[in-house]
Parts: sequence; structure tokens; C-alpha cells
Amino acid sequence: MRILVTGGAGFIGSHIVARLVADSHKVSVIDDLSAGRTSNLPRGVKFTKKATKQISKQDVQGVDVVFHCAAQVSTFLSVDYPREDFDRNANGTFSVFEAVRKYNDGAKVIYTSSRSVLGDIPAGKIADESFPYNPSTFYNVHKIYGELLCSIYNGLYGIKSAVLRPSNVYGPGQPYWMSGWYNFIAYWIKLGLEGKPLPIYGTGTQVRDYTYVDDIADAYMRAMDNRAALGETFLLATGRPVTLNQLADMVNSVTGSAAGKQYFPPRKGDVQYFVGTSEKASRVLGWSTKVSLEDGLKKEAEWVKADLKVKRKLPEPLKR
Ligand SMILES: NC(=O)c1ccc[n+]([C@@H]2O[C@H](COP(=O)([O-])OP(=O)(O)OC[C@H]3O[C@@H](n4cnc5c(N)ncnc54)[C@H](O)[C@@H]3O)[C@@H](O)[C@H]2O)c1
Repeated sequence: MRILVTGGAGFIGSHIVARLVADSHKVSVIDDLSAGRTSNLPRGVKFTKKATKQISKQDVQGVDVVFHCAAQVSTFLSVDYPREDFDRNANGTFSVFEAVRKYNDGAKVIYTSSRSVLGDIPAGKIADESFPYNPSTFYNVHKIYGELLCSIYNGLYGIKSAVLRPSNVYGPGQPYWMSGWYNFIAYWIKLGLEGKPLPIYGTGTQVRDYTYVDDIADAYMRAMDNRAALGETFLLATGRPVTLNQLADMVNSVTGSAAGKQYFPPRKGDVQYFVGTSEKASRVLGWSTKVSLEDGLKKEAEWVKADLKVKRKLPEPLKR
């Protein structure tokens, strides 16, 4: 099949691209390289540097599937720069749907949302797709907007789509160069390898549910191939609650760092508790997670260590 991956030079997008290329699909990528890098792309992929709001007829014409992964990914940056987040994320997603509607309304869209649309859930509960929207930042609002676009473009124009909501993804390829404003695990690993303390905003009791990037890429492959996925939303999570303090100890252990943790005041919009179930993804897509947090962190630490040795220009972290 012919497939377009927006944000394909980024962390999750490049793992999806690798899977698609391995399965002999014809892949094209658009990415503005604000966080991604072309060295993430395998040979044979057609790459165009552009923002999703500039997506054109040529980008979508003839493709069977659009994996929409491009986004500004930091919830915290969205609090400081709401308009920029709107432009990148809300307007970007709208532009992708408009291009599909105008030039290729037979293409299927697999939209990357996030567990963060559910925000904080009551401590001790396990979220599923029936939980209500509960946004705490502009990033979440713009992800919700994208989910609603999936529904409205289907209702008005018959465009087929599925929504995937990954929960805190980590693994090799995670941009450790973005200074911890998002994808902070890779940044923590870098700090651990440098023997520096890991910054924690708040008490570190915030709970998250972490998923490994190859497991997430596998869910995309399954959603693409499954008619029953169309019109549906899937939470991709493990059901395992892990506090930031526990995670920091695990990172310090895999990096062999004795520098410990360093506490800072809490950040606006930070979620205190999230754990989710993937019962629906398992039932409909046959999806399950394969890699444990312990094993995944080891793989990520090996990758960061190796990548730090390669001299290359990295994207500049967004300024605050
Ligand atoms: N990493 C996570 O924990 C997580 C969890 C849930 C959802 N997501 C979603 O998954 C997707 C991929 O995130 P990621 O973690 O791989 O982050 P990433 O920053 O590595 O990937 C995003 C890619 O999109 C590109 N990009 C950003 N804005 C763009 C725009 N307007 N136009 C074109 N390209 C643009 C970046 O250069 C980057 O390559 C995003 O939609 C994100 O919101 C991520």
C-alpha cells in the first residue's frame, strides 16, 4: 500500500515508518523537523520537509492510508505557548483532514491522539475509552479537537479513520535532545549517563502508565489492517501504575547513576494519576504489550548511550 506518515521523522513516527518499510509498503513522510531528524528514516522513504498546515494535493494523492503523528508534543509548552500549539496541532490536524477531503477522500486516517485527553483520573481507578474528556492543557484540548475531526469528517464526508491514544511512550529513538519538556525519559537517561540528578517537578508521586514504542507501532499496523477499527478509539496502555519517583530510581539503576533526584515546584497542568486498560485494543485489534518497563528502559539506555557518540546536528529545543 501507499502510506503517508506525518511526523514520520519523529520518535513514534519513525518506528511506524520502519515497520511499514519492512512490510514492503511504499512510504512517504512529511515532517517540519522541529523535533525529528531525517537520520531516523530508512532508505527508500520519500521525505518532504514541511509543516502539516502546508500539506498539499501531492502529499495525499494516491495514498491509501495517512498515519497522522506530527504534533508539538509537550503539554507544558502548550501551556506557555497556546497559540503555537493551536497552529501546529489543531490547525495541523485540520489541514490534514482538509487535504484528504479535497484530494483523496478514499484514504483512511489513523489519528494519533493521547491518553492525556482523559487528564487526571481518580487515584486507584483504571481508565478505559468510556472515561470522559478531562483536559488540563491546550495540548489535550487540541488532541480532543483532532478526535472530534475524525468523527465529523466521517459523518459529513464519509472519511474513514481510527483514533489511537498511546499512554506515555518510551524507547529507543526518543528525543533526549528536547531538554525534558516532553519525552522526558530519554532526557533523564542522558542525565543519568552524565551522572547528573534527575529533575522532578512536584513530589514525584504522580502516577503514569508507560508503553514501549515497538508495542505502540504494532498497534498502528493492526489498526491499519482491521476494518473493525474504523470509527473506533483505542487506549494503548499497560494497566501498570508507576510513580515518577519509582521511574527515576529505575532510570538511575539502568544508567548506573548515584546522583539521585532533584525536586522542583510542580508545573501547571501536570496530571497526578493515570493508568489505563487496553482491553478494547486487545479484543478488537488483538494487541497486547510485549516489552516490560524494566527491559524497555534497558533498551532505551543502550540506544541513548550509542546515539550520544554519533556527532550530528540535533534539532534545537523549543525556547521557553
Ligand atoms: N511520546 C508520547 O508519550 C506520546 C503519547 C501519546 C501521544 N503521542 C503523540 O504521538 C505523536 C508522535 O509523538 P512523538 O513522541 O513521536 O514526538 P516527536 O516530537 O518525536 O514526533 C513528532 C514529529 O512531528 C514533527 N512535527 C511537529 N509538529 C509538526 C508540524 N506541525 N508539521 C510537521 N511536522 C511536525 C516533529 O519534527 C517530530 O518529528 C504526536 O502526535 C504525539 O502527540 C505521544
